[in-house]
Amino acid sequence: MEKEKNNLMETITSLAKRRGFIYQGSEIYGGLAGTWDYGPLGVALKNNIKDSWRKKFVSSRHDMYEVDASILMHPGVWQASGHVDTFTDPLVECKKCKGRFRLDQIPGVEFRTSEVKGENGWKMSAQTVCPSCGADGFENLSEPRSFNMMFSTKIGAVEDSASTVYLRPETAQGIFVNFKNVVDSFHPKLPFGIAQIGKAFRNEITPRDFIFRVREFEQMEIEYFIRPDDWQKYFEYFKDEMMEWIDSVGLDMAKVNELEVSKDDLAHYSERTVDFEFEYPFGRKELFGLAYRGSFDLNNHKLEYIDEEGGGKITPHVIEPSFGVDRALLALLVSAYKEDTSGEEVRPYLSFKPHIAPVICSVSPLLKNKPELVDKARIIYGTLKDEFGRVMWDDNGNIGKRYRRQDEIGTPWCIVVDFDTLEDDSVTIRDRDTGTQERIKIVELIDYIKERLS
Ligand code: GAP
Repeated sequence: MEKEKNNLMETITSLAKRRGFIYQGSEIYGGLAGTWDYGPLGVALKNNIKDSWRKKFVSSRHDMYEVDASILMHPGVWQASGHVDTFTDPLVECKKCKGRFRLDQIPGVEFRTSEVKGENGWKMSAQTVCPSCGADGFENLSEPRSFNMMFSTKIGAVEDSASTVYLRPETAQGIFVNFKNVVDSFHPKLPFGIAQIGKAFRNEITPRDFIFRVREFEQMEIEYFIRPDDWQKYFEYFKDEMMEWIDSVGLDMAKVNELEVSKDDLAHYSERTVDFEFEYPFGRKELFGLAYRGSFDLNNHKLEYIDEEGGGKITPHVIEPSFGVDRALLALLVSAYKEDTSGEEVRPYLSFKPHIAPVICSVSPLLKNKPELVDKARIIYGTLKDEFGRVMWDDNGNIGKRYRRQDEIGTPWCIVVDFDTLEDDSVTIRDRDTGTQERIKIVELIDYIKERLS
């Protein structure tokens, strides 16, 4: 079973590289730990995830304002947010091999609470060894020390302590620092939300599990500002909204779990958190989170709001649905990966929903050395490309190879122009999941796809 799970991760990682979804970061220089580069199909998949999120949580609503704040932020932001003092992981060093590890990733360490929080609440057991060289823990592993996960850099030409700035470890603070700007420009009434999609950076001690735990990743976050008494109502509301979106993009719902985070394990800003977990091949892990941040951030940034309907100056409270794009994408790959074993050869395919698939359909001439087929196919390709954008021209190899390639990248439909097309203006359209083919008129193609896309 364990082997099967490892195999699934290996299969997905290798497919992702081979087919142009995800490459190792800085690969030609030996790679850079904790970084991954998205290839053309990875970008398309990510964009579809982000588009679907934006549609549900921003553009279809009347109470949501989207911002795009700077990645480099003033150190004062991170002092106020608590990240300078508390955004740490417990780091343990091995005297023997000089390896550095996060405390909870050391075998045999026992915790008082379910999650590692800091230096306290843990002890070594007889099984505690260095995860890298296997040296005995009691003799070789250091006491854990707090390691701040924020990346800092210097701004401007003069390098002194005053020039230190941080790359944001969460997009949330880019929202809070623009709270007053949005209120002044748009005068929104409570409740309302500010949303942001963008990069976040964390100097993870041990990045691992492909794109699951990385040092540079993307978040889609909402800070939803409410009157304090309403927090439970909106917490429940966003829990449902998040589940609905998770289902709508095509994650395997049998693998999704809600976890009420215990008081001991809450982040420094949170009064309540529910984690949405996913059963990845390497274990059940956090996919997204929903937090009730109370007035923690607005208070610390000294921001207020004039509530005309609620009797004057107040500090709104905040419900925060937070989504990681990369974790969503990995969960989608895991959910979509299927193997059809009904034929002579195993047929792997990605069963993405059509609105999420990087390519909606491919267009091929049956034979690429027959100009009459190629010309006709090119016209169809142009028409579909204008209509849907995510359409691929594919004349590489024989038709079987093309189908196999399109199955592996999750293209729902393959359209083939053959000699009959020249007679009756119809084409073959093949369904990815069943492998079945039907013949339809060229003029009906757009409606056929549109119907299934919606
Ligand atoms: N603003 C709240 C916040 O940042 P978080 O639980 O630390 O909360 C939110 O992060 C989401 O960001 C996570 O649920 C996960 O999807 C994603 N995420 C966090 N750290 C990550 C990492 N190192 N690599 C990939 N995604 C990560």
